[in-house]
Amino acid sequence: MTTARAPRDRKQARERLAELRTRIRGHDYRYYVLDQPEISDAQYDAQMRELRDLEAAFPDLVTTDSPTQRVAGQPSERFEVVQHRQPMLSLGNVFDGDELRAWHQRVARLLEREQFALVCEPKIDGLAIALVYEQGHFVQGATRGDGLRGEDITANLRTIRSLPLQLTAGDAPERLEVRGEVYLAKQEFARLNEQRARDGEQLYMNPRNTAAGSLRQLDPAVTASRRLDVFAYQLGWSADGPPPAASQWEALAWLGRASFPTNPHARRVETLAEATAFCAGWVERRDSLDYEIDGVVVKVDEFALQRQLGTAGREPRWATAYKLPAEQAVTRLRAIDVSVGRTGVLTPFAVLEPVVVGGVTVSVATLHNEEQIRLKDIRAGDDVIVQRAGEVIPQVIGPVLSRRAGRRLRRFRMPAQCPVCGTAVRNDPDEAATYCPNRRCAAQLARGVEHFASRAALDIEGLGEKMALLLVEGGYLASLADLYRLPGRRAELLAIRGVGEKKLDALFAHVEASKRQPLRRLLVALGIRHVGEETAAALAVHFGTMDALRRATLEDLQAVADVGPVVAEAVHGYLDDPEYGALLDELEQLGVRMDDVGVARGGPLAGETIAVTGALERWSRNEVESLIKQLGGRVGASVTKHTTCLVAGTGGGQKAAQARALGIAILDEKAFIEHLRARGWDE
Ligand code: IVH
Repeated sequence: MTTARAPRDRKQARERLAELRTRIRGHDYRYYVLDQPEISDAQYDAQMRELRDLEAAFPDLVTTDSPTQRVAGQPSERFEVVQHRQPMLSLGNVFDGDELRAWHQRVARLLEREQFALVCEPKIDGLAIALVYEQGHFVQGATRGDGLRGEDITANLRTIRSLPLQLTAGDAPERLEVRGEVYLAKQEFARLNEQRARDGEQLYMNPRNTAAGSLRQLDPAVTASRRLDVFAYQLGWSADGPPPAASQWEALAWLGRASFPTNPHARRVETLAEATAFCAGWVERRDSLDYEIDGVVVKVDEFALQRQLGTAGREPRWATAYKLPAEQAVTRLRAIDVSVGRTGVLTPFAVLEPVVVGGVTVSVATLHNEEQIRLKDIRAGDDVIVQRAGEVIPQVIGPVLSRRAGRRLRRFRMPAQCPVCGTAVRNDPDEAATYCPNRRCAAQLARGVEHFASRAALDIEGLGEKMALLLVEGGYLASLADLYRLPGRRAELLAIRGVGEKKLDALFAHVEASKRQPLRRLLVALGIRHVGEETAAALAVHFGTMDALRRATLEDLQAVADVGPVVAEAVHGYLDDPEYGALLDELEQLGVRMDDVGVARGGPLAGETIAVTGALERWSRNEVESLIKQLGGRVGASVTKHTTCLVAGTGGGQKAAQARALGIAILDEKAFIEHLRARGWDE
């Protein structure tokens, strides 16, 4: 009973409430914005509990920006309409460096100056919002809507823990609007979908749509459960006080001081060249972020210049969006086929009407497994959303259900027989997988051969997917050992369509060379479960020879660093299997090397990925690439964030620009030779 309390209590309560709120806000800021919590969850909970209890005792002292009020309020019937005091504009687009230059030239012409600073910011693929603060308190938040009128989603925005309910900058105008982007982190998106998969519910398509749906929930409790996040990127209007910044760069700094999360990758640059490099760099780096971006926004920094430039139609002249290649596209799913992997597992995949995604034409994509197809309700004949991100295999995100209307499409079912050899399939309930139990199935063998010949394994050039299938289907390979018998069948092989003399002799040379590969590579090549490059190297170093490895007991195997019971069991099981034992004997008789003796741990360039561009004096391109490989390094076809350094001869351009943008070392020929010498390279 508040009224019954002594005024002294009330005063004390007011003070304690203010203190608790300030503290909790500080902890929220450190936790949700800075990601640097200072207290334990339990300590935080205790403070929150005290605040809640006190507010329960003094309900009239509850304020809307109290940390307890993030998920408060009743579900509403509908959203109120909010008129934006200043329209929320959209942005013009540019798609490459040339178009960015054209934009820059137009701006320079209008400003009658060549030099002006720019701010470059990742363009977050979320939803634009406008936030109004009065006397430092968050009072209203709205969606962009049509740019002129949006919806009042204040209650939902309050649930976003990184969004400040109270500003911490002392110099805030009495009233101001801040604009930003609400988004769902990729990790949160994955968490939500995992939860939905567990519950057997239909999966969400992408983070953006999920964020949009979450913001437009009538019940704020639902929004709260989605763990949205926000970046502030713009000052809107302000009243009763001067705007706290004179440029975009100052505005971002001020927003940070006021407790808003701002994007840490924003950069102020002085020249077009720097802006272009920044934009180009994000083509590769976009995947390194935990949220989706669809471009880079390039803004003229100074507000005075922005005003001078003004807007044209609904787009400001002072900013543009450098768009990254779209990573999603819609296309027709022609069929769902099933492939059989090296271990016999059946994997459904999508056969698509070819479509350009992320700059590459895609005609097949993965569908993961039967359960995903069911949860996403993907059916042959659907129009589907295809996604391709970075170097990841393209995947089908889901159907565009509105385009199915009226058509009867059949649900997918796994075949009962192996589509390649016809053997009845089995189910492995542990791994939720369907597999073909026939070890001699042509598909398994072809995949096994392809893997055997792959780069990290015995590196037999010219023996890819197509050739492996050709040889298996033609009856030339019934086991891996038959590979080494191919040279004896030269005449027969030449009769195969599409196999020329030159190609075949090159293949034979690589097959012959593969016999000299060390044990670690052979172990990778065999395709033993759980044995990748690292484990193979560890086993090879530890045992030295195949003989020693074959004699090893489970305990011996587990004595190897990083080899646990599961891996030990897999290795032991393989080596103990009479069929595989016979294969190893056969390979040895055919002259395949069975030891790792004298192989340096990985070679001087182990762990390095080196890209090459332009012409070198000392080596041809082929020579330098094989040198890198010989020394244990990898050759990168392009410059990515995984590249260690770029060797640049004369005349390279694109890759060098990419390397500069990513901050990757560029070595000229002389520096590269130094690099090799420093690693003990002996010419
Ligand atoms: S500035 C005049 N900065 O992109 C418009 N927008 O097409 C000023 N966006 O509706 C927008 N990140 O939803 C700006 N760092 C950023 C942004 C950004 C994402 C979105 C925003 C806007 C759309 C423009």
